[in-house]
Amino acid sequence: MRYQLVVCLAMVFFGPWSVAVQAAAPLSEATRECIDCHASVTPGIVGDWRSGRHAAMTVATALAGQQNTRRISATAIPARLSKVAVGCAECHTLRPGRHADTFEHNGYDVHVVVSPRDCAVCHAKEDAQYAQNLMSHAYGNLHDNTLYRQLQVSVIGAAQLENRVLTFRPAGEKTRAEACYSCHGTRLTFQGLETRETDAGEMIFPKIGGWPSQGVGRINLDGSRGACTACHPRHGFAIEMARKPATCRQCHVGPDVPAFKIYAASKHGGLYAALGGHWDFTAVPWIVGRDFSAPTCAACHVSLLADDDGEVIAPRTHRMNDRLPWRIYGLVYAHPHPKKADTRIIRNREGRPLPTSLGGEPASAFLIGALQQEKRRQAMQAVCRGCHSTSWVNGHWKRFENTIGQTNASIKLSTTLMQRIWRSGAAHGLAAGVNPFDEAVEKAWTEGWLFFANSTRFAAAMAGGGDYGVFANGRFQLSRRLSELAVRADAAARCKP
Ligand code: HEC
Ligand code: HEC
Ligand code: HEC
Ligand code: HEC
Ligand code: HEC
Ligand code: HEC
Ligand code: HEC
Ligand code: HEC
Repeated sequence: MRYQLVVCLAMVFFGPWSVAVQAAAPLSEATRECIDCHASVTPGIVGDWRSGRHAAMTVATALAGQQNTRRISATAIPARLSKVAVGCAECHTLRPGRHADTFEHNGYDVHVVVSPRDCAVCHAKEDAQYAQNLMSHAYGNLHDNTLYRQLQVSVIGAAQLENRVLTFRPAGEKTRAEACYSCHGTRLTFQGLETRETDAGEMIFPKIGGWPSQGVGRINLDGSRGACTACHPRHGFAIEMARKPATCRQCHVGPDVPAFKIYAASKHGGLYAALGGHWDFTAVPWIVGRDFSAPTCAACHVSLLADDDGEVIAPRTHRMNDRLPWRIYGLVYAHPHPKKADTRIIRNREGRPLPTSLGGEPASAFLIGALQQEKRRQAMQAVCRGCHSTSWVNGHWKRFENTIGQTNASIKLSTTLMQRIWRSGAAHGLAAGVNPFDEAVEKAWTEGWLFFANSTRFAAAMAGGGDYGVFANGRFQLSRRLSELAVRADAAARCKP
């Protein structure tokens, strides 16, 4: 250990990598030491961190800001963190007893995976809200739901032929981590320590299963859920990044979750593409009409928006469902938003872990009621009214909710046909106790609700219609799957013994 420190200090004072510490705010002794080495070990990390506000500001300066301009929400922050920049040690040595990956690193108890609970020391409100966002539950919502796991196996499972029949075996850990769980997030596990040779000699590091992963619902080594870095990538943590749609594109790009493609093809997306270069993506609060003239994903779903006089148009929320009356992502129908972000608890009338029955009846005990829906509708519409008149917004909303009804009706018909095919024995589904998603005809049914009904609804919600609701991935394809299912159901009925 002493040898490594000597090597490191030698590098700092005499070595070619010697880098002057240039942060605008004073650094803690510990962070100074981290940087002395890491400026040469991981220069990308140090440079990126320097570009952000964590390097530029102390907590005490940040706390002095006015309510709507202040970028930290915690009020009681430990004194030792208050007079220094938020440096390497301030994040990577927080709450050392809580992290399974804490390891002795050059005299400090460091952990690699800085979790939402760590950020909460200064950003308490964001963490508490995010915990009630579906995203923070994205791991369990998929992994612990028997039906969704069958869907998972039918998509990423290893295919094999058994007696000329195609079947799927569950995928291994590596495949899962880079397929479904690259967005939903993995479960991290501590797998002991290992010794590695480094530029500064031999060092000991933790081995972490399921890592790397920046999925939104990652299960962390302190038991917390999520990765703030999904939208605030390290180490710049720039608000500009979170406000630009490219950040969300990584996961919301379809064809099952097509928000980004639809946004890019919408008028709002067009305005962003043509004029976004002139907008201010760093101002807090974000002034509608002055800082930007058309919304990005963040503006409609998250941002604190205000007018020129500082009057709040919409408060910021990391609990994004504050502005979502519906769940337009079909499972298999669109439905009122779930009451809780943990959807594992939902049971439909048939006792299955789905928010609607296969006939389309919502599992109402687990979903929000009409009053709460209206409150959230108002919250989203307040955003629109920053730039549109009430009649524009109401006209848009009537078409959108009409499309929810129309697409649900198409899915009801296709599901009725699918059920006839199952009953005929031409395909084997839930009643037979097997995977309802893995046969050819079942895939046609799945495409209907998962791709085309979804695209049609997303286009209605976020673009006022357009091609993703018609020919690009919408009503045309949905009706074609319906025709296929009708032919298959008819054939199954004729062939029935
Ligand atoms: C004596 C030099 C030295 C000092 C001082 C130092 N580090 Fe490191 N650190 C390293 C080296 C070398 C690595 C290994 C890089 C690699 O794996 O390529 C490393 C790796 C890490 C890792 C990644 C571990 C992993 O397994 O992925 C983190 C996190 C880290 N350091 C944080 C810190 C923090 C925080 C401080 C200050 C409290 C600090 N380091 C001080 C040299 C140092
Ligand atoms: C799904 C994307 C997403 C995730 C995940 C996310 N954020 Fe954010 N965050 C945003 C967006 C978008 C903004 C910009 C809000 C605005 O414009 O007012 C933001 C803004 C912020 C800000 C700036 C607040 C201010 O007053 O300027 C902080 C701090 C923050 N987030 C912390 C966190 C923390 C901590 C986590 C993890 C618990 C987290 N965020 C997770 C999207 C996200
Ligand atoms: C605001 C908190 C914060 C600060 C400040 C911070 N980090 Fe990190 N660091 C993180 C987060 C979050 C991650 C991502 C861990 C994960 O989710 O996998 C991370 C990851 C890392 C990793 C592993 C990344 C990789 O790609 O292998 C290293 C090494 C690291 N940090 C070093 C540093 C150093 C050096 C500094 C100071 C220049 C620093 N960190 C400052 C929060 C921070
Ligand atoms: C020790 C306190 C502290 C911790 C821990 C901390 N932050 Fe910060 N954060 C700050 C301060 C101070 C600012 C700058 C406030 C300002 O500019 O007024 C800031 C600003 C931000 C911003 C806004 C940046 C911008 O460009 O406007 C984001 C986003 C953010 N932090 C995310 C995170 C995330 C994610 C974590 C955990 C990985 C984290 N912070 C951990 C204190 C902290
Ligand atoms: C590219 C990123 C990404 C990948 C890869 C991904 N998903 Fe998702 N998933 C999402 C997003 C985004 C949502 C939320 C959509 C919405 O709410 O509109 C979601 C939501 C879900 C839900 C709803 C869960 C609930 O109860 O809230 C299920 C089920 C699901 N995905 C299954 C899967 C399966 C199975 C796989 C792998 C075959 C997979 N996903 C791969 C991004 C992804
Ligand atoms: C790393 C992947 C990832 C990124 C990046 C990401 N999301 Fe998500 N998002 C998901 C997944 C997965 C879900 C679904 C979780 C579930 O259903 O369990 C989701 C769900 C949502 C929901 C539904 C939330 C709710 O509570 O109903 C909204 C809205 C959303 N995302 C918007 C955004 C926005 C806006 C951004 C960018 C600022 C973004 N997401 C960035 C993966 C991501
Ligand atoms: C003009 C405002 C606006 C913009 C811009 C916007 N959205 Fe939306 N978004 C909406 C509306 C309205 C809904 C439907 C509300 C509901 O589901 O109750 C919605 C629904 C969603 C949903 C489905 C939530 C669910 O529970 O099924 C996701 C996910 C989503 N948006 C992500 C994004 C992403 C990612 C972007 C950027 C690429 C984006 N949105 C851009 C207004 C917007
Ligand atoms: C920051 C300002 C801003 C916000 C907020 C905003 N819009 Fe827009 N929107 C615009 C502008 C500007 C246009 C372009 C109008 C034109 O073509 O003359 C537009 C166009 C549209 C269009 C396209 C109409 C067409 O036929 O091309 C729809 C639909 C729309 N907005 C709906 C909404 C909805 C719904 C919301 C809220 C969920 C919303 N907008 C929020 C600025 C905004």
